[in-house]
Amino acid sequence: DEKADGPPRLTPLQKLTTDKDEKTIKELIIGRRVGFYKVRGEIGCGTFSRVKLAFHALTKDKVALKILDKTRLDGQAQRLLSKEISSMECLQHPNVVCLYEVVETPSRLYLVLEYAGGGDLHNRIYTEGKMSDNDSKITFAQILAAITYMHNINVIHRDLKAENVLFTSSGCVKVADFGFSTQVSNCNVALDTFCGSPPYAAPELFRDECYLGPSVDVWAMGVVLFFMVTGSMPFRAETMGKLRRCVIECAYTVPPWVPGPCQRLIKGILKKAPAQRYAVDQMLGCDWLLPVQFLWPPEPASLDSERGDLAE
Ligand code: ADE
Repeated sequence: DEKADGPPRLTPLQKLTTDKDEKTIKELIIGRRVGFYKVRGEIGCGTFSRVKLAFHALTKDKVALKILDKTRLDGQAQRLLSKEISSMECLQHPNVVCLYEVVETPSRLYLVLEYAGGGDLHNRIYTEGKMSDNDSKITFAQILAAITYMHNINVIHRDLKAENVLFTSSGCVKVADFGFSTQVSNCNVALDTFCGSPPYAAPELFRDECYLGPSVDVWAMGVVLFFMVTGSMPFRAETMGKLRRCVIECAYTVPPWVPGPCQRLIKGILKKAPAQRYAVDQMLGCDWLLPVQFLWPPEPASLDSERGDLAE
C-alpha cells in the first residue's frame, strides 16, 4: 500500500479508457492533462496531427505530445499511423526522436515523444541563412548516423526533409516524424507508395518506378545537404510538372564556392539511378566528413568503466 504522504497517485488515461467514461476522459483532457503529462501550448502541426509541449507531472521532464484525432483518420492514415508507431517503437538512437509511450482514448491517440527544443533545420536556414562548413558537417554527420542506424534495422524514413531534422537546446540533431516510414523485411525490396515532400523526392518517385528502397532517404539527404551548405534548394520550380522534369533530369548546379570535398559528396548522392547513388557506408568514409568525430556508435559502456586508467 502507498503511504499517505507518498507522491500523489495519478491515474493513467489508459486505465480510464477501460471504464468507458468519456466524460471523465474529456475533463482530464480539457483540464489539460494527458495521463501523467500536463499539456501546454502548441509547438507544431501536420496533416493529421498537432504537436504540443507537455511536462511530466512528477519529474517535470518536457516532452512533445503528438495528438491525433482518430475520428479524422481514414483507412490509409490509420495504416500510416500504425506504421509510424511500430517503426518508432523499435528505434533507439541518440539522433532519432524517441517514442516514450502511447496514450489512447476512444477518440484520440497521443504519442509521447522526446522533446527537441532547439527548432528545426528548415527554420534555422530560413532565418539565419546557409550554415558554415563546420556546422553543416556536424549536422550532416548526425543525420547520417540516424539514417544509417535506421537502414541497418530495415526502417526507411521516406519523409526526410529539413523540417524533420530537429535540434535539442544543446544543438544535438534528432531526426523526427516517422509518419511515412516503413519497416521492411529486407531493405532492398520494392515499395510502391509515393510519400514525402516533392522537393525532396528522388527521380524514381516521379518516374513511378516500383523500386523505392533506402536510396530514397539517401537522395533526400543529398537535398538536405545542398540546402544546408548553400541556403537554397537544388530543385525548385513554379509548377509540379517543371519540378518533376528538373528532378528526373537531375538538373542542379552546385555553386562553385562550395568546398570541393562537399561538392563531391553532393554529386555522389544526387544521381539519377538509385544503384549509382552513394550508399550510407560510402558517405561515412567521404573526405568531407573525415574531420568529424562520429557520435555513434559510442565506445561500449562496459569498456569505459574497465578502462579507469584511460578515463578523463
Ligand atoms: N515538433 C514536432 N516534433 C517535435 C519534437 N519531438 N520536439 C519538439 N518539437 C517538435
